[in-house]
Amino acid sequence: STANIGVVGLAVMGSNLARNLASREGNTVAVYNRSPERTRLLTGEHPEAGFVASETIEDFVASLQKPRTAIIMVQAGRGTDAVIEALTALFEPGDIIVDGGNADFHDTIRREKAVSATGVNFVGAGISGGEEGALKGPSIMPGGSVEAYKTLGPILESIAAVVDGVPCVTHVGTDGAGHFVKMIHNGIEYADMQLIAEAYDLLRKVGGHSPAAIADVFTEWNSGDLESYLIEITAEVLRQVDAATGKPFVDIVLDEAGSKGTGVWTVQNALDLGVPVGGIAEAVFARAVSSHPEQRVPFRAIVDARPEIAVVGHTFQDDVRQALYASKVVAYAQGFDAIIAGAEKYGWNVDKGAIATIWRGGCIIRAQFLNRIVDAYANDPSIPTLLVDPYFAKAVADGEAAWRRIVSTAALSGIPVPGFASALSYFDSLASERLPAALVQGQRDFFGAHTYKRVDRPGTFHTLWSGDRSEVESAGSSH
Ligand code: 6PG
Repeated sequence: STANIGVVGLAVMGSNLARNLASREGNTVAVYNRSPERTRLLTGEHPEAGFVASETIEDFVASLQKPRTAIIMVQAGRGTDAVIEALTALFEPGDIIVDGGNADFHDTIRREKAVSATGVNFVGAGISGGEEGALKGPSIMPGGSVEAYKTLGPILESIAAVVDGVPCVTHVGTDGAGHFVKMIHNGIEYADMQLIAEAYDLLRKVGGHSPAAIADVFTEWNSGDLESYLIEITAEVLRQVDAATGKPFVDIVLDEAGSKGTGVWTVQNALDLGVPVGGIAEAVFARAVSSHPEQRVPFRAIVDARPEIAVVGHTFQDDVRQALYASKVVAYAQGFDAIIAGAEKYGWNVDKGAIATIWRGGCIIRAQFLNRIVDAYANDPSIPTLLVDPYFAKAVADGEAAWRRIVSTAALSGIPVPGFASALSYFDSLASERLPAALVQGQRDFFGAHTYKRVDRPGTFHTLWSGDRSEVESAGSSH
């Protein structure tokens, strides 16, 4: 046994973390991957790291000094359980298993309980910073026992980013605390990215600036209160020009933003905790809206064809009525979308028209209005959203001007109208020809190599942001 730390799972994050560990004074790093080709690739490309490579998990465990410490960097989910079980069976009391993936903290609590019952320590650690962070210094959010942190802490401190002499790692709390905090980090990340994307969209569509000009604006803002990694890379993404077309990169990226789930978890858990995280929720939903071209395309066609709306002769009271009705239509459309998605997921043959029918009386949301929904589904049960039904399309379009006046009046008057405002933004999202989701895809590709699709040809692509910035076709799916 020669290594003081081991890494299991040698995809990009695992490989980079292993290299980071190996580059620190005093570390000898054992590496193992389920398919040995990847291990050979890593050791072949980085002989300077002096890795102790194993092709079986038994040899890997045997190569570790006691107390054995292994960091698992595999795709969160079932794969993680398999690796944890294998290591737990081979490890001895006092050894430490670290899960460095984006695990659901509920899983981490469950795993910590099961593993620690055997005397082996289990630490769920959130690791942030993408590929580059893993290699050069991430921010690390470990949970698990205080005892395990005594051994693990110094190793993690040696590889973490350092700011003002302070390593970006702390023992967050016991069992799932580290993964919980990493989840919230990602929720905040979603909101931050969405806000930047909205700022870009405003500067572009209202301000009339080009992506390159907006890049300069962001670079300037990056020297003030807004200074951040995300603003910095957003400027880089906006400055990028697509080699194939000569167009701004952000214009060739398909504006359908993907996600891996941590943003959704943040909102789910905030709902359970009763904590209002509207900004994060809207960011998660903005990605969801962007990913439904089957709703956006037909809705936009209707909205684009609408006549100029007369803005004369309105009263404030009637404006409120119209904004209320338009927002209500959106709420019902969203609710029925949720019913359709649930029915599809759980295999229920739900008759949408029948639901609207039985809601017309007796229940709390009973109203004549529900007849309109019955009619809409009777007309065409396959409509992608209630908003494209001619009646509802007209209802929201007729109310549009009033809706805008009310939301802006509310904003100017300091009246909170999260319902009206978010419904109007939903309307505008569906009606937009292009969403800044393309920029979010660019940001995700920049920091996490999450890939993107192009507007002009099929396939999944990645730009080598930290290399020569050329584009490569990627085998994985843009997710
Ligand atoms: C980080 C990132 C990283 C990853 C997430 C977000 O902190 O380094 O948050 O964990 O990029 O998976 O990804 P999605 O946008 O795919 O949900």
